Amino acid sequence: MNWKLVVDSYGEIYHLNVLHAKTAAKEALGNVQTIDTFRNNLRMVVANQKINLMRFSMPNMEHWPYKQITVTTYFFYPNVMMMVDTFGVDLLRIFPLEDSPRKSRTIHTWYIHPNVQKIFKTHGRSYEDRLRTFRDAVGKEDYAMGEDVQLNAEMRVQSEILLGRNEGALHHFHNAHRSRIGRDLLPVEDA
Ligand SMILES: [Fe+2]
Repeated sequence: MNWKLVVDSYGEIYHLNVLHAKTAAKEALGNVQTIDTFRNNLRMVVANQKINLMRFSMPNMEHWPYKQITVTTYFFYPNVMMMVDTFGVDLLRIFPLEDSPRKSRTIHTWYIHPNVQKIFKTHGRSYEDRLRTFRDAVGKEDYAMGEDVQLNAEMRVQSEILLGRNEGALHHFHNAHRSRIGRDLLPVEDA
């Protein structure tokens, strides 16, 4: 799959409840995200299911434990993403492969807090279980769908992709890339 399609698959949360209904949606919360941009880079924050608990148990939002209820992803243009949550940091680096526009390699490394394995163990799990769930969702769902998108584009089934008004991370990434290669910014359609 083209490396830009891979980056796209991490840049919005609207697909979560549909594509990942049986996997990642059990942990993360769909349809809620924020973005802030800095030059060609951006920061995207999504919530996890614990935010619903907070709504009931802790009415004062100022006391909400930010790191425990969010995943913050930093997109470093062009090809590096760093995901930070309460357990640690995941680093995803996407590289074009074999000089082909159809292939890329994702290198995933992670760094966890020393206490994390202990906490998982008390619940009869290990951090590797969580990693497996993440990688299954990404590999068997996101990347599988991205390959279909790429195939459709190659077969000219679909000549355009419409990015929604709330998919700001994707707008920013594509506009950053377009400006770097001397293309006009994405055209904007009136609603
Ligand atoms: Fe996804």
